[in-house]
Amino acid sequence: MKAVIPVAGWGTRFLPATKAMPKEMLPLVDKPVIQYIVEELLDAGIRDIVLITGRHKRAIEDHFDLNPELEAHLERSGKFELLEVVRKISRLVNPVFIRQKEQKGLGHAVLTARPALGNEPFVVALGDIVVKGANTVSRMLSIFSEYGRSVLALFEVPPDEVSKYGIAKVCPVGDGVYRIEEVVEKPSPEEAPSNLAVVGRYLFTPTILEKLEKTPPGKGGEIQLTDAIAALLEEEEVYAFKVDPGSVFDTGNKLDYLKTVITFALEREELKEELERFLRELLNRQRSIP
Ligand code: G1P
Repeated sequence: MKAVIPVAGWGTRFLPATKAMPKEMLPLVDKPVIQYIVEELLDAGIRDIVLITGRHKRAIEDHFDLNPELEAHLERSGKFELLEVVRKISRLVNPVFIRQKEQKGLGHAVLTARPALGNEPFVVALGDIVVKGANTVSRMLSIFSEYGRSVLALFEVPPDEVSKYGIAKVCPVGDGVYRIEEVVEKPSPEEAPSNLAVVGRYLFTPTILEKLEKTPPGKGGEIQLTDAIAALLEEEEVYAFKVDPGSVFDTGNKLDYLKTVITFALEREELKEELERFLRELLNRQRSIP
């Protein structure tokens, strides 16, 4: 199965850092966000990855390409562990890059992947959220092989955060699988049909592409993937499962990005102790300032 990762966005929330650098290349300690997403797909056995890019995104292409000069340099200086790190990612992935010439929204970005997809089911993974250690993509594949329909990963969010996500109303069908009854893009807390948010991992039957073609601009004047899913629901069942909120790390806004960086750094043996000490001292110092 192929996967699509839309990476054409401007990254305006992180300007000026993202003026000349794609937001997907922002590091979580020492690995760019996009590599975490690609590794999630690789862990589920997906190697054919269609990246929907735009101008200013060349660094992503370079990241998944070979870099013979760097490899030769690391080899000469005996840095074999780093050499392996650098080599591995370019050798495991078969990337296809398609330019989205105009940015008309997430739904439009997914539709742009059509020439690379054929009439086959495919996965979509969004770059803003890293889902760690939950085998989310594998779970989607196994639900798809049982039900033969589209599958979404959902996670519970506090009521005051529903307006940041696509929100779904579901009904259980057994074994931790749910059927989607309704889905709305970024509703207000009053309008939200539940607190179950779309985490940004989807598996679609090709029917979604027909729906996307007919989807008019929605929220924010953009062609919304969520609106196409709502249209898909009129024709086919769509299934879902829940991901533990503790494994979901948002990197799409400054505060959540910083929380994610700190969490990931505290998981690293070589950084943990010093960083914990620093954070404790920093807080104590701030508390003592009147
Ligand atoms: C997109 C989707 C939304 C989903 C979210 C997950 O929104 O439109 O339905 O819940 O990703 O990150 P964005 O974060 O691009 O505004």
